[in-house]
Amino acid sequence: MENLDYYNAAINERPNIYKRVIHVLTFNTRRLLKRRFFIALVFFLIIFQFLTMFQTYSVIITNIKYKTRNYLYNHGWLPCSLRKEPILYMIDTQKLMAVWETNCILDNVRIQWYEKSIDNEINRSDILEPIEIDNSHYVYKGIIGPITSNGYYEFEIIHSLYTKIISSYFQFFPSIPDDPNSTYPIQIIAFADNQFGLSVFNRLVQSASQKTSPNFIIHAGDGVQEYNNLQQWQTDFYDPLANYKLTKHAPIIYAHGNHDFDPKNLYNYTTDTSWYSLTIANTRWIVLDSNIDDINQDLWLSNELSSPETQNKDFKIVIVHIPPFMEFWDPIAWNEKKEKHWGEFVRTRFAPLFNKYGVDLVISGHQHNYQRGQSNGTVYTIIGGAGGELDFDRVEDWSIYNVVRKTHHYISIEIWSDKIIWKAYNLEGFIIDSFELRKGS
Ligand SMILES: [Fe+2]
Repeated sequence: MENLDYYNAAINERPNIYKRVIHVLTFNTRRLLKRRFFIALVFFLIIFQFLTMFQTYSVIITNIKYKTRNYLYNHGWLPCSLRKEPILYMIDTQKLMAVWETNCILDNVRIQWYEKSIDNEINRSDILEPIEIDNSHYVYKGIIGPITSNGYYEFEIIHSLYTKIISSYFQFFPSIPDDPNSTYPIQIIAFADNQFGLSVFNRLVQSASQKTSPNFIIHAGDGVQEYNNLQQWQTDFYDPLANYKLTKHAPIIYAHGNHDFDPKNLYNYTTDTSWYSLTIANTRWIVLDSNIDDINQDLWLSNELSSPETQNKDFKIVIVHIPPFMEFWDPIAWNEKKEKHWGEFVRTRFAPLFNKYGVDLVISGHQHNYQRGQSNGTVYTIIGGAGGELDFDRVEDWSIYNVVRKTHHYISIEIWSDKIIWKAYNLEGFIIDSFELRKGS
């Protein structure tokens, strides 16, 4: 009987429970509606936070990817493969060098190349022997060229019985294009001093590669912090450039800095030429080594600047790591540690030659910020903001610079038949400086 009463009571209560549920839901819905602006604000803030941090999360994930891959290669946990796909370096007007690295020794490795429009003319190198750095780093270097005509070129790395390891292509301009309208502008992006700033360098390379498909890259030195550190060459230098598909399409014009200077002149991961020159269409590029105070470099530079190959070009451009005119550095290092004297010969001996022979543009790094100025008709630029810790302290005033930007950055250069357009971009992708060089100005 007691159970029946309880059952009936429960039945009688059920509508009340429904009413209470409906009441609670209605009440909370009203409360929610009353606070809809607050909820919308919270929702907006969550989305905003996610979007603003997305870049950071993306960079962290990318960095972890680089380091993990390097770790797996170093411990022999990955099969025989390319741990570095080919990095292309300009070595003169008609030749470039491909540098790649495996974690194993391969038989009968060669590089071959051909102009894309000519099917049957394949140029093939001799068998290439690796440079064995340790049991997971085998570096190969192969020369592509001489290339005498403008166009698109395909290259392949092969081993054993013509087994293709990888192929890619690049565009080359050893002479002034026949059809300027279809070829110009030649696109270049420029960096210097990424050093240990992997996250910044990664973001800059990503931003640069999204804005343009460069034909060439300029690196004005200090691509790593420590020359002998293999991990830095892999994760801090190679990986960002390769991750955004630059290394195997855009040959690098590289000027060595003090951090990537090899006193043994081996230069496993960059070009092993200290000073050199080359022509790209209507521009002459002269690359100097501010690590080497040697009268032979002075004599070479003087000959080079006065030569018809240089004087006949519309634009004469010098790349040298230490700027002739530096203004920002650590004051203690600059004065007490005498670092003001590093590469002093670039100012005292090279800059007068730039003036004498009408150099249009000098591109340098070393100082970790951005400066642009002009002296005796030569534009001097400092672009050392690709990742290293920024320099804020003024140590000199040469009274030639009128633009100073203390921020990380990269450069976009467009070579046209009659002008050069220069734009400096900050980490957020905004233009922080720009100028034009006109032919004959
Ligand atoms: Fe430097």
